[in-house]
Amino acid sequence: MDLKSRLSASLEAARERTIALLAAIPLDAQARQVSPLMSPLCWDLAHVAWFEELWLVRELADAPPHDARFDDLYDAFQHPRRERAGLPILDPIEARDFADDVRKRAFDMLDGISLDAGSRRLADGFVYRMIVQHEHQHAETMLATIQLMDDVEYTLAHESSDTPRPAEPIENPEIFVPGGPFVMGTDTDPWAYDNERPAHEVEVPAFAIDATPVTNEAFAEFIAAGGYDNARLWSGDGWAWRVEAALEHPEFWRRAGTSAWEHRRFGRWEPVPPREPVQHICWYEADAFARWAGKRLPTEAEWEKAASWDPRTGTKRRFPWGDDAPTPERANVGQRRFGPSEIGSYPAGVSACGAHHMLGDVWEWTASDFHGYPGFESFPYREYSDVFFGPEYKVLRGGAWGVDPYVARTTFRNWDYPTRRQIFAGFRCARDA
Ligand code: AVJ
Ligand code: FE
Repeated sequence: MDLKSRLSASLEAARERTIALLAAIPLDAQARQVSPLMSPLCWDLAHVAWFEELWLVRELADAPPHDARFDDLYDAFQHPRRERAGLPILDPIEARDFADDVRKRAFDMLDGISLDAGSRRLADGFVYRMIVQHEHQHAETMLATIQLMDDVEYTLAHESSDTPRPAEPIENPEIFVPGGPFVMGTDTDPWAYDNERPAHEVEVPAFAIDATPVTNEAFAEFIAAGGYDNARLWSGDGWAWRVEAALEHPEFWRRAGTSAWEHRRFGRWEPVPPREPVQHICWYEADAFARWAGKRLPTEAEWEKAASWDPRTGTKRRFPWGDDAPTPERANVGQRRFGPSEIGSYPAGVSACGAHHMLGDVWEWTASDFHGYPGFESFPYREYSDVFFGPEYKVLRGGAWGVDPYVARTTFRNWDYPTRRQIFAGFRCARDA
């Protein structure tokens, strides 16, 4: 298939995903302010359409917007999420019509467009790839909103036909990575966002990293050992937040008897699966657990080296296992399972150094603040990355079960506040070696 056909197909696939996610949600719930942390679902849909219109129609054709008010309503920087249900936004049906209309115009535009190197935005279809990823990223955001709904059982998540893979024991629970340089980031990946560029050599001292993310079982031990009551395990900010927010366990958990736990997964209470990676913990909780375990969170560079570096060839892999696309044997991505898989489910997805589950299952909190790499240039707009650089955001790596393969690669960087728990994030530990 030629590039244009491939780009059209990926735009279509992203839309199919969005529509399928929404189809299982009652219309009134789609318009609801579920949490101050999230937008109404119908805002996400119209925002995705507005963003597509901006980049694939207006920027390319000098065309007027569908509705001039949308630059205020659907620009994420104009109104905080908690206020969006109170704005005169499109209802779920209108949002859908708007999205259909934009998509038609975007496809009409694409016919007459040249994707050669004449313009950096168009070269190799960059803006189209950006729009595909943006829609998938919002699909994951919408899943976080749906998970927060306490009165909607999300049937789609419970009807998944993807059976669990047999979990195999992991030989080495901790991996030693010798010191030395590796190449962080990329100059060549056509899907890369500005914050993944430029590629640069980083000297990483020897370290050890857990072969797998921390499990629910291990996290329950931390709780049972009084981890939430021991201020010495927490950073100063972390303890203040733990007290203020009255954190006692991961979000969506409740006790079931004296030692057992249940969690609410898309509207249904179930026993917490002991061998799955823990999710819905904030950075502060991950940091405290790591201290309790006598370890620490990996830096972003350590994480990327463990995930991508092949020391035998001195080259970098796009995925932990190599450069071939994710498959159901390699990683839990693409919303096949609507939850993480048991530890050991993806022996075929192991990285060169022996780390499992580096891609998919849960986002992994790292020790690092979100900053631009040396030589960073914002492209094509400052509001994707640049305005978020600074000490208030922590970087997450790896991508969760809800991440589409188009948004999953070893160089991809996600970020959020260290207090956030509604995202599908867990962690693994590391230490100096
Ligand atoms: C990369 C997930 C932090 O949701 O704020 C969506 C992705 N950027 N629309 C976000 C994004 C613009 C971004 N994160
Ligand atoms: Fe967005």
